[in-house]
Amino acid sequence: VHPSSIVASIVACIVALGAAAYWDEGREASASLADFGREQATLARELASALRARLAASGGSELGAPPLGETFSSIEQPGEMVALLRAPRADGLALGAGGTRRIPSLEAALDGARCGLEAPQSAAGCSLQLSHGESAALGLPPRMGMAGLATFEASDGNRWKVAVVAGAARERDRERRAAARVVLSFLVSSGLVLAFGMLALRKQRRELVLAGELAVADAVRARDERLVRADKLATLGALATGIAHEVSTPLGVIVGRAEQLAPKVVEDARSARAVAAILEQTTRIEEIIRAFLTLARGGTPSLEHTDPRDLANAAVELVRHRFTEVGVHVSTVPGSAAPAVACDHRLLEQALVNLLLNACDACSPGGHVTLEVRVEDDLVAFVVTDDGTGISPEAAARATEPFFTTKPEGKGTGLGLAISREIVLHHRGTLEVAPRRGARGTEARIVLHPVSSFAPAP
Ligand SMILES: Nc1ncnc2c1ncn2[C@@H]1O[C@H](COP(=O)(O)OP(=O)(O)OP(=O)(O)O)[C@@H](O)[C@H]1O
Ligand SMILES: [Mg+2]
Repeated sequence: VHPSSIVASIVACIVALGAAAYWDEGREASASLADFGREQATLARELASALRARLAASGGSELGAPPLGETFSSIEQPGEMVALLRAPRADGLALGAGGTRRIPSLEAALDGARCGLEAPQSAAGCSLQLSHGESAALGLPPRMGMAGLATFEASDGNRWKVAVVAGAARERDRERRAAARVVLSFLVSSGLVLAFGMLALRKQRRELVLAGELAVADAVRARDERLVRADKLATLGALATGIAHEVSTPLGVIVGRAEQLAPKVVEDARSARAVAAILEQTTRIEEIIRAFLTLARGGTPSLEHTDPRDLANAAVELVRHRFTEVGVHVSTVPGSAAPAVACDHRLLEQALVNLLLNACDACSPGGHVTLEVRVEDDLVAFVVTDDGTGISPEAAARATEPFFTTKPEGKGTGLGLAISREIVLHHRGTLEVAPRRGARGTEARIVLHPVSSFAPAP
């Protein structure tokens, strides 16, 4: 959500809440003014009923000033409330305290009022708001006045009208103060909400900027790492090509000499086996070099359907003499049948040999190394496990990096796993090295697709 939309929503909510509070306050004010008017109407009614009784007692004659004043004095409060009488046929309104006043709006309301004592008490139309000037003309504070109206019919059939007018100054002041309180609390709370909202937004923006900078830094670091890796791989490719070129000449000489020797040692079975082994291994070296060169030139390995257990056994046989030399036990774990994989078996054997040799290097005499073929989630996994020195998580993360080695100079080149990884990647597989879980040692695994789900590299 964009920050400006959040701010707009907050402001809209605050305005809506403020408007609702202000409207409610106004409604309360009108209701209390209406109540105030009803109170005046009740007083006017009481006054009218007292006057009717007095009129009846005086035989229906018009009321004199003193009795009127006496009756009115029970209601009147100087400066706050006045009582007024409109006698039949009289002009203006007689004040209880003496004198008459002309208040046209009040006279008109009294003339038209249906607020008779005979009728059931009803507030509707029995109160009237007076203007500031009208209130002042009646000796009340020059603020809004509220008039309550009542009428009654005397025994002679004449209609008498009574009004009680009270200044609504106190009510109005109270309402104004309440409205001011609503506005003030609205302003304070909206100010607080906006201030905290802006603070939160600023903090969020800062965090977003920071997260963005971190993401950029991560991307740059990852790109740099990729470039360094690509650079090292290019060096590796060039190195492999150069070595292949240099090795081919002496290799040719070895093969030539061995072939010359072969017919001469036919009689000596031991020498014949040795010469055959030399020829077999040189052929193997030539095949591996050819396969490596294909990879280095960006070609695809020649794939054959191979039984994973045959691969595992062949790899173990290739390194057995090294294990025997240092007194480390090596074995394949007899597992259930695994589906065939599509691979260049020379290259994959070489990758497994590298894992086995690393395991051998990590073990002391008497150590154990196993190579197991497992079927995991429809994939074929070659798992080499050793009980050697183990590997730290940091070294495991860098183990397949070209030239990364923890071995002393002259002992390791740091190329074994890098080459194995390239081989495995060319077979659309994965290679991982990790500390063994719950036991001493290391676990290295190559995972390949079986032939049924193998998709060759595009
Ligand atoms: N089974 C293992 N146990 C402990 N450490 C290992 C194991 N396999 C790999 N490593 C670590 O990974 C590093 C890189 O291995 P890699 O095979 O690429 O190079 P190397 O063995 O050091 O050298 P080279 O293979 O050229 O002789 C090793 O130096 C070692 O620190
Ligand atoms: Mg190695």
